[in-house]
Amino acid sequence: MSRITPLVAGNWKMNGMREQAAEIGKLAESLEKDPVDGVDVMICPPATLVMPFAELMKDNRIEIGGQDCHPLVSGAHTGDISAEMLADSGATAIIVGHSERRADHGETDALISEKAQATWRAGLVAIICVGETNGQRSYGLTLDVVRRQLKNAVPDGATAQNTIIAYEPVWAIGTGLTPTVEDVKKVHDDIRSVLVERFGSENGGGMRLLYGGSVKASNAAELMSVENVDGALVGGASLKADDFLGIINSYKS
Ligand code: 13P
Repeated sequence: MSRITPLVAGNWKMNGMREQAAEIGKLAESLEKDPVDGVDVMICPPATLVMPFAELMKDNRIEIGGQDCHPLVSGAHTGDISAEMLADSGATAIIVGHSERRADHGETDALISEKAQATWRAGLVAIICVGETNGQRSYGLTLDVVRRQLKNAVPDGATAQNTIIAYEPVWAIGTGLTPTVEDVKKVHDDIRSVLVERFGSENGGGMRLLYGGSVKASNAAELMSVENVDGALVGGASLKADDFLGIINSYKS
């Protein structure tokens, strides 16, 4: 039995208007009526919805996270949002280094490391994403890529409390494709050993390792049962309460 409390987190990406409050309301209501013990639940909506969702969820156990932040506290950076602003809006965590930000905005591991440190500075938990592209995978480079990302994007001060690692193979995101459970186990075991070596057994061994990429209700139980998989980072299937509940329910004992 793992001593780590798993986390099922939804990344809404650039989806969601104010009316989607109904979905998170439905999610909260269902979890209240039919609780799933021993699992944490989080929704990371677009920045526009962080504050209303955090206010809506303040009396229940669903946490709200941001999807990105600027490394600095404030300043002349039009369009950017700081970790402190997300904290002020009620977020408790921020996703940094998602592959879509790496691809769309040219984010490097060095920048992602700065964003993770900004997240901690604001008192929030950094969900740091790693994962290989299809090309890298086809050359057998998965573990090399993930190790390099862990080395350069995860700052030295990472602890089991302030950091969550999300392994998201780029080729599995939004495609309906997933790695085999053997492949997920291989990568997660490797991530765990790298983290234990660098941060020690308490912090490296206690950090949550999420799997992300085409997680849905029909494959969640299998993926979540893999050793060293401590939850999921879910895109498309987190937008509808019923779909997301199906994933959370894979933790029902
Ligand atoms: P999908 O679940 O839509 O594949 O997205 C995964 C993801 O990118 C979560 O951050």
